[in-house]
Amino acid sequence: MEMGLKRDLRRAADTICEADRVTIVSHIDADGISTESILAQALSREGIPVSSVFVRQLEPMAMRHIPKDDSLKLFTDLGAGQQNLLEEHGLSADEVLILDHHVSQPCGTAYPQVNCLDYGVTRMSAAGVAYLVAKTIDPTSTDLAKLAVVGNVGDMMARENCGLVGPAREIVQDGVEYGNIIVRERDLNCYGISTRPVHVCLGYCDDPYIDGISNSTNAALQFLERLGVELKNPQGGWLVWEELTFDDRRKIVSALAQQLIAHGREIDRLLGETYIFPDETERTPLRNASEYATLLNACGRWAKPKVGGSICRGERGDAYREAEYMLAHHRSVIRDLLQYILDTGVTELSHLQYIHTGDRFPDTIVGIGAGMALSKLDWRKPIMVLAAMVDEPEVTKVSMRTNQWALARGVDLQEALVEASAGVGGAGGGHRIAAGAFIPRNTEEEFVDSVNRILKRQSAPAGQDDS
Ligand code: C5P
Ligand code: C5P
Ligand code: C5P
Repeated sequence: MEMGLKRDLRRAADTICEADRVTIVSHIDADGISTESILAQALSREGIPVSSVFVRQLEPMAMRHIPKDDSLKLFTDLGAGQQNLLEEHGLSADEVLILDHHVSQPCGTAYPQVNCLDYGVTRMSAAGVAYLVAKTIDPTSTDLAKLAVVGNVGDMMARENCGLVGPAREIVQDGVEYGNIIVRERDLNCYGISTRPVHVCLGYCDDPYIDGISNSTNAALQFLERLGVELKNPQGGWLVWEELTFDDRRKIVSALAQQLIAHGREIDRLLGETYIFPDETERTPLRNASEYATLLNACGRWAKPKVGGSICRGERGDAYREAEYMLAHHRSVIRDLLQYILDTGVTELSHLQYIHTGDRFPDTIVGIGAGMALSKLDWRKPIMVLAAMVDEPEVTKVSMRTNQWALARGVDLQEALVEASAGVGGAGGGHRIAAGAFIPRNTEEEFVDSVNRILKRQSAPAGQDDS
């Protein structure tokens, strides 16, 4: 591990251990929830009193949830990009510690911070940083690596083929050694490997689009039957992907790869690395990192982040039932949102495509829909979704997503949204590949044009446009 990171982790661990009590302020998504759970559990084990606040974004309205007391305020999975707000709110450097992976905002007050971007680590989420702090406090807390993997996977830090890399990879290894993570390399990169019958899992998979299989569970079933693999258990129930034998999984993956190649498609997105949790009940969404993260997102994005927190702390009874219910709801609304975007169509500008979903979908999930729609639209152009904020009618939420292809050509959504939102009196932030903003409703048109101009400028130095 990089020396600077190690030193800053030690400093953060010491600051936390010296605190009389701690308030964790975290984000409502899977990464924010798993981050909060890692730290709250690590601190409780040290006997440090801790309470937690979840916010959907660190913005002026959210600041009133932060207690004015003498606790150490631990800002996690947020804060780096909103340091001026902390300053305006009168928070001093000695009562704040930021653990984040978002791009930092320059600020007069030097808030102590552990931000993986400062050490060139771009593929690690806040849960990774939180875990490294927890492990610095107590090297035996490697049971928490599992939650860090959930956070990292939830924030899309794993990539096709290679999975988690760098320090995030070392965290996976901690979990493997502890015994609550099993890594499967070059596994099937489809959602639902622990919960869906194999033919349903494949039929629902449309990224990559597999000709003759995607969108048809019947065709998927026939395809599998032709391969002669064992699809049912001795009781006659359908097996899920996770339960198939190694040989059957290999057989299916290579047949799918052949199918893709036969149709002139690339196979890189077919394979991924999966992280299975052997300590969780089989055939539940808690059995692998990707489904676990979606469950946490479902809790957080629908205003129940603490239910997600209970799940992370190992509670299963009522909390689990509630989370399962929210997961079903979350998935159906996201399906509707994706369908709405594809049916309605986007408006194309020279350097971006956008759609306004009005008040049809909550602002907390439009970013997820943007990400899913991108691969089905013209994926060379960043996508923007604008949404009305039901509880703040004067404000519009903006979410943008792009991909590695565009990043390699100079696109930086974080920079674009910070600059364009500042120009209209709003605020934005995030990552190069995924960013968001809040803007005054009456500036939407001007804002979209401004982002388009900035994206054009960003693509210019490469001496090519994106046509
Ligand atoms: O806070 P924020 O970090 O929540 O954004 C998380 C979202 O950003 C994820 O849902 C993911 O879509 C996206 N993301 C990504 N690649 C990164 C960082 C974030 O796709 N390197
Ligand atoms: O197809 P190509 O290899 O040029 O794709 C490069 C990148 O573009 C992929 O790694 C992926 O991030 C993105 N892409 C996408 N949706 C597609 C195809 C590619 O998001 N359907
Ligand atoms: O909300 P959405 O999923 O689109 O957010 C994408 C990324 O942008 C997240 O990392 C989020 O924390 C960040 N963001 C931000 N400021 C905003 C809105 C989103 O930093 N006003």
